[in-house]
Amino acid sequence: MSGPWVEKYRPQKLEDIVGQKQIVTRLEKYVGENSMPNLMFTGPAGVGKTTTALALVKSILGEYWRQNFLELNASDARGIDTVRDRIKSFCRLKPVGAPFRIIFLDEVDNMTKDAQHALRREMEMYTKTASFILSCNYSSKIIDPIQSRCAIFRFAPLKGEEIKERLQFICSNEGFEYTDEGLDSIVYFAEGDMRKAVNVLQAAASEGEAITEDSVYEVVSKAKPQDIGNMINKALMGDFMGARTILRDTMVLQGTSGEDMVTQIYKDVSKRALDGKMDAGIYMDLIEAIAECDFRIREGANPRIQLEALLTHFL
Ligand SMILES: Nc1ncnc2c1ncn2[C@@H]1O[C@H](COP(=O)(O)OP(=O)(O)OP(=O)(O)O)[C@@H](O)[C@H]1O
Ligand SMILES: [Mg+2]
Repeated sequence: MSGPWVEKYRPQKLEDIVGQKQIVTRLEKYVGENSMPNLMFTGPAGVGKTTTALALVKSILGEYWRQNFLELNASDARGIDTVRDRIKSFCRLKPVGAPFRIIFLDEVDNMTKDAQHALRREMEMYTKTASFILSCNYSSKIIDPIQSRCAIFRFAPLKGEEIKERLQFICSNEGFEYTDEGLDSIVYFAEGDMRKAVNVLQAAASEGEAITEDSVYEVVSKAKPQDIGNMINKALMGDFMGARTILRDTMVLQGTSGEDMVTQIYKDVSKRALDGKMDAGIYMDLIEAIAECDFRIREGANPRIQLEALLTHFL
């Protein structure tokens, strides 16, 4: 096992990208036409924006993609002037062996409005020789003049089955056994983020022979959903000390943070209400208490004390 799996299993071709089918189809058209407008990729972390940009660049620029491609991070510590200088000197040169050059600018939403206006001028100046691919998590943070100069592609969080299938593929490629529950718990944590899923898988794999629920929980600090469920059951049945013991064990042994505990309690309680296993009135009272606890912990109150106080509302 060498190197990070997120890099080893980064798809190199557009057709190998998991999910995002509509986006891939639209991009393949550009490859067919051998031209592309400026593009903007937006969406949450770890869903394939950078991966897709690189795969597109390779297929559209072909053999000479390295010479005609510049990758920059907009939140470069050396400042926006460095970014602009590099764009300028790159754009001054003619494309070599390809019809145009491509500049990939990551994390554009971290640029100030002023820097974005400067970038917009750059984009206009070099329309003949270069196309831009901009990547960001929130398109709302990008100024309108840039948005209107780009074809916008919205990347969605990956579906549970898509992530699971990818994990199965990686496991069989690496020769790792896995249980269904093991992979399901990775999917539960990843929340649509493939990078997170692959990283947890690799960490769990380093724990032993097989990917099981236990090996996954060894490497993530979240509580097991069953533990949270048991804790809530105990509290609802009036066994405060029993619930408190599970709370303590989870936070101390598993290392789950106060914020994560509140979120997981919230998920569990909401599921009960949705499944009709909890009375709506009780649910509303509990949500109020959960919201208060969440707020206090975020403001810096002691999480253990706040969570124990929260449990008293379940009694
Ligand atoms: N759609 C996908 N198909 C297959 N693998 C993926 C996909 N999306 C992400 N990955 C895996 O996650 C890693 C990170 O993905 P990528 O760099 O494309 O994320 P990103 O969307 O650019 O995230 P960020 O917003 O954090 O920059 C990839 O190297 C790959 O291993
Ligand atoms: Mg990226």
